[in-house]
Amino acid sequence: MNILRVHSSARGTEAASYQLSQLIVDHWLSQQGDSAVVIDDLHADSLPHPDAPYSAALRGGEDPAEADGSLPLSDQLISQLRAADALILAAPMHNFTVPSALKAWIDHVVRIRHTFVATAEGKVGTLSDRPVYVAISTGGRLCGGRQPDFMTPYLKAVLEVIGLHQVQFFYVESTAMPDPQLRQAAWQQAVAEVKAHFA
Ligand SMILES: Cc1cc2nc3c(=O)[nH]c(=O)nc-3n(C[C@H](O)[C@H](O)[C@H](O)COP(=O)(O)O)c2cc1C
Repeated sequence: MNILRVHSSARGTEAASYQLSQLIVDHWLSQQGDSAVVIDDLHADSLPHPDAPYSAALRGGEDPAEADGSLPLSDQLISQLRAADALILAAPMHNFTVPSALKAWIDHVVRIRHTFVATAEGKVGTLSDRPVYVAISTGGRLCGGRQPDFMTPYLKAVLEVIGLHQVQFFYVESTAMPDPQLRQAAWQQAVAEVKAHFA
């Protein structure tokens, strides 16, 4: 068994989203029992954006014989995703949606002819389904807060396009609130939700 973690906070392992993802990984690992498990860590912060050769390949009817530009990177990221038994995305909310680092990873792996096909009925995913866990951190309140959440519906929709339908979301909210008790309570709530899910 192997789980691929894609994390996308500039704060690396200090990040609340990373720490929430680690809690999920720990629970996932204990659920797997004795099966061999590998965690593959990918820090999306270092990824370049898809470039002109990538865009040309998408517009053409087929891939070029010689993959150049960011296409080999895209191939590699797709292979890594395909090989994962489970996926975990760890991400802070940035301006109501995913951070640009995670968006770059998404743009590399959501690729026509590779992870989905276009049909008359719309895009159809070609990856085999597997569990996806999403660890989201937000500075403010999300549920009941005064801000929209484009991140959850967006991730649901874009993962669906490539065939990933078993998506479970976890949140740690209020990380930028000045009151330490509020932050502590928000973390405890996130921990309780993870525990309940894996119980
Ligand atoms: C560029 C930027 C945009 C942000 N936008 C939001 C936002 O729309 N809503 C929110 O609640 N927090 C927002 N935040 C705060 C982060 O989501 C929050 O600090 C988060 O917990 C950081 O997570 P991390 O520790 O995983 O990096 C933003 C932070 C940054 C840097």
